[in-house]
Amino acid sequence: AKDVPYNWEVMYMSGAPDCIEKDHIIGINGRFPGPPINARVGDNVVVYLTNKLHDEGVVIHWHGIRQLETPWADGTASISQCPIKPGETFKYNFTVDKAGTYFYHGHLGMQRSAGLYGMLIVDVEEGKKEPFHYDGEFSLLLSDWWHKGIEEQEKDLDATPMRWIGEAQSLLINGRGQYSCTLTVPANSKNSKGVPGCKFTGKEQCAPNILDVEPGKTYRLRVASTTALASLNVAIESHNMMMVEADGNYLQPFIVKDFDIYSGESYSVIINTHELSTHNYWISVGVRGRDPTKTARGFALLHYKSTGVSKRPKHPPPATPLWNDYARSKSFTYKLFALPGSPKPPPNYDHRIFLLNTQNYFEGKTRWAINNVSLKLTDTPYLGSIKFGLTNAFDQISPPETFIDTYDITKPPPNPNCRVSSGVYNLNFGKTYDVILQNANIIQDGVSEIHPWHLHGHDFWVLGYGDGMFSEKDEGKLNLENPPLRNTVVIFPHGWTAIRFMTDNPGVWAFHCHIEPHLHMGMGVIFAEGVHLVQNIPKEALSCGLTGEMLMSQNHN
Ligand code: C2O
Ligand code: CU
Repeated sequence: AKDVPYNWEVMYMSGAPDCIEKDHIIGINGRFPGPPINARVGDNVVVYLTNKLHDEGVVIHWHGIRQLETPWADGTASISQCPIKPGETFKYNFTVDKAGTYFYHGHLGMQRSAGLYGMLIVDVEEGKKEPFHYDGEFSLLLSDWWHKGIEEQEKDLDATPMRWIGEAQSLLINGRGQYSCTLTVPANSKNSKGVPGCKFTGKEQCAPNILDVEPGKTYRLRVASTTALASLNVAIESHNMMMVEADGNYLQPFIVKDFDIYSGESYSVIINTHELSTHNYWISVGVRGRDPTKTARGFALLHYKSTGVSKRPKHPPPATPLWNDYARSKSFTYKLFALPGSPKPPPNYDHRIFLLNTQNYFEGKTRWAINNVSLKLTDTPYLGSIKFGLTNAFDQISPPETFIDTYDITKPPPNPNCRVSSGVYNLNFGKTYDVILQNANIIQDGVSEIHPWHLHGHDFWVLGYGDGMFSEKDEGKLNLENPPLRNTVVIFPHGWTAIRFMTDNPGVWAFHCHIEPHLHMGMGVIFAEGVHLVQNIPKEALSCGLTGEMLMSQNHN
């Protein structure tokens, strides 16, 4: 184990990631996406993060890293730390304890949507082996991209009535997409919608990624999605993929032609290149679960070194499955199981929490609510305020742990209004918790949306999914044999998802929908567990709100 140090400056940039110029992109050290982190199991990742934004704070969350014994390094504004002020430097220091494909991203307001993200790859320890073989690897970080800035988006979402941000203009692969031109037709022609073929001279930021491969070899593709909104599907022309890893945990391998990936998820897939190839192939990424017609698909090129890189693929990019074919999405998701030998869940739970996801209004603004409570963060980070007993820092009434069992999830909420609160769920330490996420109909008749939920500080076992309202009859369907361990899981429209985890990591952890505008509109909860056991919170993490005042008065004494 060693220290893996990084010196990063977070700054505004301008650029044209999808061929359209945009400013107020948030980058790191002049790069968008931010530089990748590469470490090995047991390493200490040390990031000195300097905020070079002029007038806003910043934090970075290390998505999928559990932060065992370092809950203050989780990088969640108002939860684990105070935002880093402009001009200041914060030292993140945490151990990466599990090999896998992770990523990092901003966790203040909608800074993630502005481009603050990058990959975080953890390799097995020196001399150890993964349970699958590969000759080389590539990372694909997927995101969606709007031409409007986040300041305006946040204003729109907070307006009365709310103005929805709409679908993304483009999908990006490693920060590259094409909005004003298309790769799918030759440069001098147009597609059926009149979009011209892309003409690249070679220097364009929006030129597609090229994955250079040799024939007859095995490659690992590490794919992560940090989209603000879009659910995606990934396919490679004429190459099957074997799913082997999800969110830093091994899967029972299975073969697919394409796979879905929701915001907050990561997968590794293994591909075998053809023994002989005289041409190149498209990798394509398209939108699922929402109307895709306004969003330009993302493409990358699988380039066989046995042929010229400029040679156009013989076949068009693989089509993305029908966006609203939920049966297809479910059939993929229901095939995910843990590799034999993976940790098994405890057979029983100590506590069970039911979380009903609804869309509501609060004072005329559209909000998302959990058991009719919409989350509003406060200025003082919970980790400090709970540790030091600052009861004025947030709402001391915890949100309800269940909802009425006569609630009709097929209809809009009978009471369209919700409460807004900063209350937390106080979980008992060292226990087994089940959470049943229950989806419901939104305010509009006949509509329920997809929500990928992400838990900080933990992996959880995905015990099962189902359509409709979770009930006793579903109890027997829960998988206690080989449920996959994950940190992000989807709830399908009008359906439920059951997870189990252990409260074994002292800290304050967000559990929320990873769709950024949904979180912004209150779609999340806060779990506090064993906070009295937390040690060594750095002062810099506490230098705002009531913990800031507390530190000041200590200095005076
Ligand atoms: Cu990747 Cu709280 O999020
Ligand atoms: Cu959501």
